[in-house]
Amino acid sequence: MRLRHRVWGDKIIEEHPELVITREQLDSQILTDFLAKDNLVLEIGSGKGDFAIQMAKKYPEWNFVGVEMNEMALAITLKKLVNEELKNILMINCDVNRLFELLPSHRFERIFLNFSDPWPKKRQHKRRLTYPTFLTQYERLLVKGGYLAFKTDNDELFKDSCEYLKASNFETITIDYNYDGHEIVDAQTEYETKFRKQQIKIKRFVVRSK
Ligand SMILES: C[S@@+](CC[C@H](N)C(=O)[O-])C[C@H]1O[C@@H](n2cnc3c(N)ncnc32)[C@H](O)[C@@H]1O
Repeated sequence: MRLRHRVWGDKIIEEHPELVITREQLDSQILTDFLAKDNLVLEIGSGKGDFAIQMAKKYPEWNFVGVEMNEMALAITLKKLVNEELKNILMINCDVNRLFELLPSHRFERIFLNFSDPWPKKRQHKRRLTYPTFLTQYERLLVKGGYLAFKTDNDELFKDSCEYLKASNFETITIDYNYDGHEIVDAQTEYETKFRKQQIKIKRFVVRSK
């Protein structure tokens, strides 16, 4: 069963080099060309792709880069994406840590982190996508005045992430401990749908690069 899934995932990824860059293809011209476009937007940990696809449709003027290291999640995203005929989205199947050096400085208008893994143990905190080393990368990637938006169900991760922010140069726009999901520049993710059904409060911050 597992093998069948892998074969299916590998096949759809292989068949769509115009929609997905694999970790072996990070030097591809498709990626270079996409990153040279204006209005770049980044989502890290895009999961099964609902947010990326909704936002790329909603904002056709954006060029949306989605990064997801899990191959099956990426394959599921692709399955949804192939019928959409969107030209303003490119998915990348790798750990974002491998990608940072390829991403141009001060070119991204927005960065989205949605329901990032909480990494609860202290020794794992450095892997959190809101950890200070990541915030430093986001400051480098964002244009002046560019936005970083983070949503989570996890109280501990949210509390710690607000602390990490204090030590950064970001300017706080919103901190919401019970986000109603009605912000215009946003879309619901797979995890968000699940947590909202369970009536778990969604926490969200939006900050701006100075
Ligand atoms: C909890 S899931 C949330 C998925 C989706 N954003 C949502 O809200 O439904 C977190 C996702 O982030 C991905 N992820 C975690 N760390 C990552 C990294 N360093 N680079 C790329 N993807 C990462 C995981 O593979 C996973 O699919």
